[in-house]
Amino acid sequence: MDLFEHEARDLFERHHVPVPRGKVAVTPEEARAIAVELGGSVVVKAQVKTGGRGKAGGVKVVHSPDDAEQAAEDILGMDIKGHRVHEVLVTEASAIAEEYYLSFLLDRAERTFLAMASAEGGMDIETVAAAKPEALTRIPVDPRTGVDRASARRIVETAGLPETAADAVVALWNVFVAEDATLVEVNPLVQTTVGTVVAVDGKVTLDANAAFRHPAHADFVDSPDEDPLERRAREAGLNYVKLDGDIGVIGNGAGLVMSTLDVVAAAAVDAGAVGPANFLDIGGGASAEIMAAGLGVILGDPQVRSVFVNVFGGITACDAVADGIVRALAQLGDRAAKPIVVRLDGNNVAEGRRILVEAAHPLVTLADTMDDAAGAAAKLAAAEPEA
Ligand SMILES: Nc1ncnc2c1ncn2[C@@H]1O[C@H](COP(=O)(O)OP(=O)(O)O)[C@@H](O)[C@H]1O
Ligand SMILES: [Mg+2]
Repeated sequence: MDLFEHEARDLFERHHVPVPRGKVAVTPEEARAIAVELGGSVVVKAQVKTGGRGKAGGVKVVHSPDDAEQAAEDILGMDIKGHRVHEVLVTEASAIAEEYYLSFLLDRAERTFLAMASAEGGMDIETVAAAKPEALTRIPVDPRTGVDRASARRIVETAGLPETAADAVVALWNVFVAEDATLVEVNPLVQTTVGTVVAVDGKVTLDANAAFRHPAHADFVDSPDEDPLERRAREAGLNYVKLDGDIGVIGNGAGLVMSTLDVVAAAAVDAGAVGPANFLDIGGGASAEIMAAGLGVILGDPQVRSVFVNVFGGITACDAVADGIVRALAQLGDRAAKPIVVRLDGNNVAEGRRILVEAAHPLVTLADTMDDAAGAAAKLAAAEPEA
């Protein structure tokens, strides 16, 4: 789960990372009031979960409450790379002498944690990494020892940051560990004209698998940014990711669903459909309730034009899954209004098919193989809707 900048700012503050004072506003009047309270120059910043806000006009330095109000007026409602701005963060403007880059992340390929730092902060770090790889220092972090003052000094020294940044580096590592983050990124970490170090932009990704250890993180979840279907799926305990296509996909087991996405994507090209509309793994259980919740989420996606249910019966046998599908469709009633192609295989497949054939639901077609099913679902998605 990615956090908004202002949420990252609050976490940083809790762990003693130096951050500018600031508050969130949802109206220009509120922005003005915060500017009055802070006094002096302030920065009005769009709160959207994407980078490059500065370039897009979503970050404005202003020198009076009137201008803060005007800047908020301009920024609120803006669309930045497909993200609508509902809130702005109004913070003190730092007198910036230099901008650096610092991040901690999980390096899955190397199976370790990694510190990345650069004296060339402020700009897009991918650009720095591509154009001037030597300007980006990468130092592995041993999880057993973490980052103490000495290793922080080594990180800043190697990357060409001032030694005064070392305390902030240790504090940012503490955020990474204590909050179970998979990414803590500060761009820019600045040195001010009076020599202090401040994190003026923050990006934090929290590990959702550790959410149970952090009841306080629940406050971060209900953001207007979250896709409503993803929220519904999360509340139903489903493993769902919204994609951009027109063919809904349900399967049991993450591996099966992943390969189903590949097959559906290929079939979509052949049939002239768009592609998979989602990833949805209903897991091993596949009870009627879970099947109903899953179908409910997928059928609620207005982009979906057909659904492919791909189940391999294991401990939960095909007859139980078929029964789940039939009961799910009964529960959904009129809400199930899109064609569904079902491919069953594995444990007790004959009985599972018999149940579906007997139920003879008008929207359900059975297919023998994964390829046939993907092809049929893609054709249905590409077909002109009946008048
Ligand atoms: N509090 C601040 N004080 C002074 N300048 C700031 C402040 N916040 C941001 N800036 C300036 O705006 C630039 C872009 O802001 P940033 O928060 O990094 O947004 P983004 O990375 O999305 O463009 C920064 O590189 C910095 O130069
Ligand atoms: Mg930035």
